[in-house]
This record gives sequence, structure tokens and C-alpha cells, in this order.
Amino acid sequence: MMGLRLNIMALLLHLSLMLASTAKGQSIFDITTYGAKPNTDITQTLANAWKDACTSTNPSKLLIPTGVYQLNQSILHGPCNSSIEVQMEGTLQAHPDPIGAGLVLFQYIDQLTVSGTGAFDGQGKGCKKNDTHLNKICNELPMNVRFSSITNSIVKDITSLDSNYFHINLLSCKNVTLQNVTIIASENSPNTDGVHVSRSEEINILNTQISTGADCVSVGGTNKQIVITNVTCGPGDGISIGSLGKYTKEREVTGVAVKSCKLINTWNGVRIKTWPDSASAYTASDLHFEDIEMVNVSNPIIINQEYCSSNQCNNKIPSKIKILNVSFKNIRGTSATSVAVKFICSKDLPCEGVEVADIDLAYNGVEGQTTSHCVNVIPIITGKQNPRACVEATPINPPSTTD
Ligand SMILES: *[C@@H]1O[C@H](CO)[C@@H](O)[C@H](O)[C@H]1NC(C)=O
Ligand SMILES: *[C@@H]1O[C@H](CO)[C@@H](O)[C@H](O)[C@H]1NC(C)=O
Ligand SMILES: *[C@@H]1O[C@H](CO)[C@@H](O)[C@H](O)[C@H]1NC(C)=O
Ligand SMILES: *[C@@H]1O[C@H](CO)[C@@H](O)[C@H](O)[C@H]1NC(C)=O
Ligand SMILES: *[C@@H]1O[C@H](CO)[C@@H](O)[C@H](O)[C@H]1NC(C)=O
Ligand SMILES: *[C@@H]1O[C@H](CO)[C@@H](O)[C@H](O)[C@H]1NC(C)=O
Ligand SMILES: *[C@@H]1O[C@H](CO)[C@@H](O)[C@H](O)[C@H]1NC(C)=O
Ligand SMILES: *[C@@H]1O[C@H](CO)[C@@H](O)[C@H](O)[C@H]1NC(C)=O
Repeated sequence: MMGLRLNIMALLLHLSLMLASTAKGQSIFDITTYGAKPNTDITQTLANAWKDACTSTNPSKLLIPTGVYQLNQSILHGPCNSSIEVQMEGTLQAHPDPIGAGLVLFQYIDQLTVSGTGAFDGQGKGCKKNDTHLNKICNELPMNVRFSSITNSIVKDITSLDSNYFHINLLSCKNVTLQNVTIIASENSPNTDGVHVSRSEEINILNTQISTGADCVSVGGTNKQIVITNVTCGPGDGISIGSLGKYTKEREVTGVAVKSCKLINTWNGVRIKTWPDSASAYTASDLHFEDIEMVNVSNPIIINQEYCSSNQCNNKIPSKIKILNVSFKNIRGTSATSVAVKFICSKDLPCEGVEVADIDLAYNGVEGQTTSHCVNVIPIITGKQNPRACVEATPINPPSTTD
């Protein structure tokens, strides 16, 4: 009697797990079975479903089916008991009130997958650049999706729309791949960087399309082994290493490879930017840009060690960030301004080991050719050179005697 009952219970348990599991053996946690309904706020429901999915000892899948769901800033944190996938087929939409309207912070999770054809919609309207009061608020606005202390994880296929501030932020992550992601914001929305990476290592950003009002991808301080491949940017501000040196706690940046990317109508192309009078002093090395196509880009190739937004710094004190071992290879297309190659290196710490090879950038304007402008750098130049980089041969200034 007892044995039979146990057998039936085992069979029922087995059946129910089979019904709610995928080919990969994941247990499924569908937010609609937790009561989530399209066009309602699902903040509490999502939290409940996440708790069950995260504590599952089987690999789990949190499913957000097709539909638009409203969400308040949510923290989905681990550690979880097994690998976890968040499959987004629907849209998670922030409330339109700009303050506090970030969407999701994923934190302390190993083996996370975020997948699906759905979207994170921040409903950001964009701050107006000419309004100083709003601009202050702009810098305090929330990001659409944050990944903090995430390891061995993949984010794929999803879309991020109209963030109020950065779209996707990776902080203290290791071995995370973003691929086939789409990021869209208005050209008139400042600080809506597509992907910002800091304090991370082994990050891959692949096969992604980014249109925003700010940097397409920005690599901040304390990073290593960052690979950016087949990313299409524009409109926006191009692919940027930096700005570096604004904060005291920043450390070395090493190993950034940007390859096979296309920039269309961006204000900058591939760029390294550091603050003068830097709050920290370290090396940024092994930074490589290769096989890049430019379409009407305003500053296609640029190192700027006097980067200073909104006059927040003293331009007279040279940058304390040492730029070392950088290459720009096979960069082609059109420049919207005549100065297609601009290297403004630090007076105290001239750039070293800069290689420029096979550059072919035509001026998109009415008359003339592209030119270059170089300060405190003597690059190694090979292959085709249009413009010829650093012809004016500005001597490297002796280091200043002041500290
Ligand atoms: C989310 O925010 C909206 C608008 O501020 C509010 O009406 C709703 O109650 C919040 N939901 C939760 C679960 O906090
Ligand atoms: C699940 O993870 C929690 C938190 O890490 C841990 O306390 C718990 O023992 C784990 N449960 C199982 C069954 O492994
Ligand atoms: C890329 O993402 C889109 C949109 O989510 C999806 O339709 C497409 O199948 C994905 N492509 C690949 C190669 O996975
Ligand atoms: C400033 O922004 C407002 C709001 O978008 C706009 O109406 C106004 O024309 C702008 N003023 C200037 C000087 O750009
Ligand atoms: C990086 O993460 C991926 C995805 O989880 C995993 O397959 C791979 O083994 C990880 N690599 C290392 C070196 O741990
Ligand atoms: C580059 O990325 C696009 C999506 O943005 C994709 O369609 C294309 O197949 C990728 N190319 C390669 C060579 O992977
Ligand atoms: C090229 O870029 C300039 C400056 O951003 C812009 O004014 C112009 O309209 C662009 N030209 C084309 C053909 O897109
Ligand atoms: C810079 O490049 C030189 C020559 O290739 C190499 O010896 C040196 O180790 C590199 N330094 C860094 C910090 O990458």
C-alpha cells in the first residue's frame, strides 16, 4: 500500500517536473503562473518568481512571456543554487517618471543567461543639454540594466530602449559575453551610453547594434581583457576607452581589442580619453583598434589626454594616465571633419608604443584632404597613410618640473 502510494507520488512529481522543464532540463518559472498580467506592475510578482527560480537546485529558467509589463527598479540577486536563465520575450517597461525608473540590477550571480527577443524599455525622454538644472538631475538618473558581480554569463538577443542614463552597465564582472543585443535611444539624449564596462575582466561585446546620444561602448577604469567585435554604432559618440582618471580609486586598464566595427555618423570614432589633472595615476596599455569602417565620423581616430567635460578640471595640469602600446590598423572610410587623426598626449607622460597602419580616411566636406594633429607622441607609421599621421612632427615637450 505504502510502496504503491510512494510510486504514484514519485510518478506525479516526475510528470510535473517534466511539464515544467525544457529540453536543457531547466525547471521553468513563468511569471504569468505567479499572477503577472500584461499592462500591470509586476515588481512584486517578478521578485517572487525570481526567488523560486534562484533557489531551485535544478538549472532554472525564469520566463517573461510576450506582453508589456510595468516594473519598478528591481534587484535580482544571487547567489543562486544552480545556473539560471531569464528568457525575456516580453517588454519590461519603466514607469515614465524619470526619477528612480531604472529597471533591473542583476547582482552576485554565476552562470546567468539573459536571452529572448524582448526589451528593457526605460521610457527615458532624454535630458535637455541646455538646461543646467535638468543636467544635474541627468547625471543622477537610473540605468536600464545593471550587471554587478556577475560571472561566467551570457546576455543575448535582447533590446534596451530609451534608458534615462547608461543602457547596460557591467561593474565588477568576469567572463561575461553580450551578443546580438540592440540598444536604441534618441540622438538627443546625453549620457545614454550603450554599454559601460568598469572593474571587469574577460568581457566580450559581439554582434551588437547601438544607436544613442552618447558613447556607443565605453570602457572605464580598472579593466582587462575586453573584446569588442562586430559592433555597429551610430548615431552617438563612438567607441571609447575612458574617460580615465576622473576617480581616485581607478586602476590599470590593459588589453582592450576593438575589431571589425562600423561607426556611422558618430561625433567620435575610436577614442582614448583621459582627464588632465587626473585624480589617479596608472597605465592604460595594450589597446588595439583594427578593421574599423567609418562613415561620416567627425573625429575618426583620437587620443585626447585633455578630455574635460563641462570644464570640470584644470587643463593646465597634464594627465597622469600613461598610454602605452596602442595600435590603429586598417581604418577606412570618411571623416566629417578635416582632422581625421588627432593625438593629444600628456605633456608629462607622452604616449609610447603607438602604431598607426593602413589608414584611409577621406574628407567628406567640400574641399581638401584629411590631416592629422599630434602632440607629445611619435607613432610608428606603416602601410597606407591618408592622412599621413603626425607629419608636423611636433617635438615631445620635456616633462614639466612641477608635480
Ligand atoms: C511601482 O511604482 C508605481 C508608480 O510609482 C506604484 O504605483 C507601484 O505601486 C509600485 N509597485 C511596487 C510593487 O512597489
Ligand atoms: C541554496 O543556496 C543557499 C544560499 O547560497 C544555501 O544556503 C542553501 O544551502 C542552498 N540549498 C541547497 C539545497 O543547496
Ligand atoms: C538576434 O536577435 C534577434 C532579436 O532578438 C533574433 O530575432 C535573432 O534570431 C538573433 N540572431 C541570432 C543569430 O541569434
Ligand atoms: C533649450 O531647450 C528647450 C526645451 O527643449 C528648447 O525649447 C529651447 O529652444 C532650447 N534653447 C536653446 C537656447 O537651445
Ligand atoms: C565563461 O562563461 C561561459 C558561459 O557561462 C562558460 O561556458 C565558460 O566555460 C566560461 N569560461 C571560463 C574560462 O570559465
Ligand atoms: C555581425 O553582427 C550582425 C548583427 O549586428 C550579424 O547580423 C552578423 O552576422 C555579424 N557578422 C559576423 C561576421 O558575425
Ligand atoms: C555628416 O556629419 C555631419 C556632422 O555630424 C552632418 O552635419 C552631416 O549631415 C552628415 N552628412 C551625412 C551625409 O549624413
Ligand atoms: C609594450 O610593448 C613592448 C614591445 O612590444 C613590450 O615589450 C612591453 O611588454 C609592452 N608593455 C605593456 C605594458 O604592454
